[in-house]
Amino acid sequence: MRVALAYSGGLDTTVSIPWLIEKYGAEVITVTVDVGQNEDFREIKERALSAGAVGHFHIDAKDEFADDYIRPCILANGLYEDEYPLGTALARPLIASKVVDVALREDCDAIAHGCTGKGNDQLRFDTTIQVLAPQLKIIAPIREWDLSRDEEIEYARRKGLKLDFRQSRFSIDENLWSRSIEAGELEDPWRAPPYEAFKYVIDPKLAPDKEEIIEIEFERGAPVALNGRDMTLRRIVEELNATAGRTGFGIIDHIEDRAVGIKSREVYEAPAALTLLKAHRDLEKMTLNSKTLMFKALVERTWSQMVYQGFWLDPLMDALNAFIAKSQENVTGSVRISLYKGSARILGRVAENPLYSSEIATYAKGSVFQQKAGEGFSKIWGLDTVISATRKPSRRG
Ligand code: ARG
Repeated sequence: MRVALAYSGGLDTTVSIPWLIEKYGAEVITVTVDVGQNEDFREIKERALSAGAVGHFHIDAKDEFADDYIRPCILANGLYEDEYPLGTALARPLIASKVVDVALREDCDAIAHGCTGKGNDQLRFDTTIQVLAPQLKIIAPIREWDLSRDEEIEYARRKGLKLDFRQSRFSIDENLWSRSIEAGELEDPWRAPPYEAFKYVIDPKLAPDKEEIIEIEFERGAPVALNGRDMTLRRIVEELNATAGRTGFGIIDHIEDRAVGIKSREVYEAPAALTLLKAHRDLEKMTLNSKTLMFKALVERTWSQMVYQGFWLDPLMDALNAFIAKSQENVTGSVRISLYKGSARILGRVAENPLYSSEIATYAKGSVFQQKAGEGFSKIWGLDTVISATRKPSRRG
């Protein structure tokens, strides 16, 4: 049997290699997809081969991740349970599709991944793989095997694997859009995460006493320039992770409902994501009418939940994305934001085709709004409430 293994280089996927060989007599081909996790990919390749892989593929998917996954997330104001910008959830279907590509090219019979049975990631991988290549068997060694971390380390020792990689006490999943930090003392929801857990975001108390003012330009809802310079979305995200992070902005800490029914305490850092989503939402308020904003909020909630639960390739996503794209026709303009010691504040916005009109809104002389018409409008507006208040209480009951 030939197996393509989605390989991160961490403990779970590394011990999966000898396990697949032992249990299935498999030839293992490892696939590492770069979605912005900033790892030493040469080291990862060597680790895979020395653990017994017969081949290794490295795929740089950073731009594709930004253009085809992060971009729709910005348009959708994607935040699961109003907090989590969905970094891991977005990257999984991309990683799965790259591993499927390799599996088909390399004539594999199965795909393996390192997901446990307790998380959301298995749903995202399994659903994507089944949609794209239903003929392939799916093997999830960690889920099947049910080993603790210590048992995994013991197995790795027995198999003579070099476990030279720096082990953090946290479980980390990183990509361009968010960096998730789990386990260790974070499992106590009362305890604040230590700043050493973060890579981009520094303690606001230690941040330089200097306001960073940034300007983000959007075209049809997508960021196209930062501080007046045209850039790819990937570059914009990379720059903002650094800029916003060094002011101390970008931490998320919430109790999250996993699809499998577990509540978990999740800590993320996502300085670029939070900055871009804040700016995008602000520009929408300048350019979409109130009814569209109201309805879009419902679409956004469903969009985020679908992505979170692993339904990236579901036909409903196409329909939601079509609505969202239509809604963005006038979301073109710029937003200026101040980043300072842990907070981000909108300073101003300007749109090419705004619905905001100072001529209508102004309190100064010369407003084109017909104030006198307000009298009749206001009288009728409260009719239902006023009539309800005059009703006598029912004698029965
Ligand atoms: N709770 C987040 C999600 O479900 C992040 C999960 C991080 N995954 C991981 N393998 N550490 O999308």
